Amino acid sequence: MIRLLVAGMSGQLGHGLAGVLADAADAADAAGLVRLTRVVARAHPAGRGPAGGGPDGGGPDGGGRVVPGDVRQPGWGLGADALADLSDVGVVVNLAAETNWAAAQQALFTANTVGAVEGLNLARRLQEAHGRRVAYIYASTVYVAGGRLGVVPETPLGPCRHRTVYEESKWLGEQALVEQWRPGDPPVLIARFAALVGDSVTGTTRRRNSLYLLAARWEELPLRMLPAMRDARVDALPRDVAARALLAAARRIAAGGTDAYDDGPAVVHVAGGQSAPTLRALLELARSQGPHRFRHMLRLVPTSAERILWLSQNPGRFYRPDEAWTNSLTGLRYVALDRVYETTRLRSLLPATDVPQVEPALLARILFGLPASPVAAELPGDPAMARFE
Ligand SMILES: NC(=O)c1ccc[n+]([C@@H]2O[C@H](COP(=O)([O-])OP(=O)(O)OC[C@H]3O[C@@H](n4cnc5c(N)ncnc54)[C@H](OP(=O)(O)O)[C@@H]3O)[C@@H](O)[C@H]2O)c1
Repeated sequence: MIRLLVAGMSGQLGHGLAGVLADAADAADAAGLVRLTRVVARAHPAGRGPAGGGPDGGGPDGGGRVVPGDVRQPGWGLGADALADLSDVGVVVNLAAETNWAAAQQALFTANTVGAVEGLNLARRLQEAHGRRVAYIYASTVYVAGGRLGVVPETPLGPCRHRTVYEESKWLGEQALVEQWRPGDPPVLIARFAALVGDSVTGTTRRRNSLYLLAARWEELPLRMLPAMRDARVDALPRDVAARALLAAARRIAAGGTDAYDDGPAVVHVAGGQSAPTLRALLELARSQGPHRFRHMLRLVPTSAERILWLSQNPGRFYRPDEAWTNSLTGLRYVALDRVYETTRLRSLLPATDVPQVEPALLARILFGLPASPVAAELPGDPAMARFE
């Protein structure tokens, strides 16, 4: 049994993790760190976790303990009593983040950068207090790649002028961990996640990120033109698939026996990597699976990376887009650039069964809300067929 302390259990990935933990109830357990304000604001059945679920209604806690705290506070705001109660925690998992790309700069930096470092400080304190190894996993994003094209390596990345404020806040979190880690510190894994979509079986999602906005904007785009690099790829994972890889990584780091963390934080991409479909293939799959859903096909207009990056970094230059359009324009860079996130290190750390594989048709179905059997579910009945009955 490994015991996790997880911040961000009420989020998209947290919901995925709760489902995976429920399936693996005898082998892993989690205490969810929730913001104090949320605990006070909502009533929970005794012993249950945060908030009974988001819009998708599933309970995100898996029945674990609730620990009030705030990742922006020193040591996530946990006092000596809370630390004493957490003597069995083997891995501190930081899924907490400000993920609204249009949020204020300060909100992004405090939650995403300060929160990253305070997670390490908390793991250090737990390790010292209980005299045993406590590991730390920081959920980052593949989008710290900023303007990088081609193969993005599983290593710390350098400065990049193309990063958005959100990307910069996550990158600075990574940088701070790399710079502040010392020998003897908890082993640290920086897990960069690809875009997260709904559950692979039910499609249930807590929120709709930029990829869903692609579906929402399909009919609204001017002349139905979408600027993108010719071989742009869409790397996304169902949240339960990503969570399964996360739990496997937590088990692996808790078990030790590898020198992967001896020299400082290790970086992995929890992503489809080479198996991620191109944008063109994804759109065609969506149209072929739900032909009556889309009246027109989107036209991909070959565009340079520089233009896509500039446009998605400066949405307010020409007009005042609302928050949804700002996020859509920012999200353009997550579907329109030609790059592949390397997954070699992830593969070396996880059992093959836990390495995420992307099935493009499934991705298209989840993103565009298409039924599994388009012919049965979508085609209207054809009375002319009666003569064959
Ligand atoms: N979703 C994606 O497409 C995606 C892609 C790549 C990487 N990631 C990364 O994966 C991680 C999880 O993302 P997500 O999509 O699950 O995020 P999310 O749905 O926005 O959830 C964020 C979670 O963080 C919690 N939180 C925010 N500020 C906090 C604070 N100050 N103290 C404690 N908890 C706080 C939220 O709690 P409340 O319920 O109280 O707000 C919520 O549980 C993040 O690090 C994100 O950057 C996500």
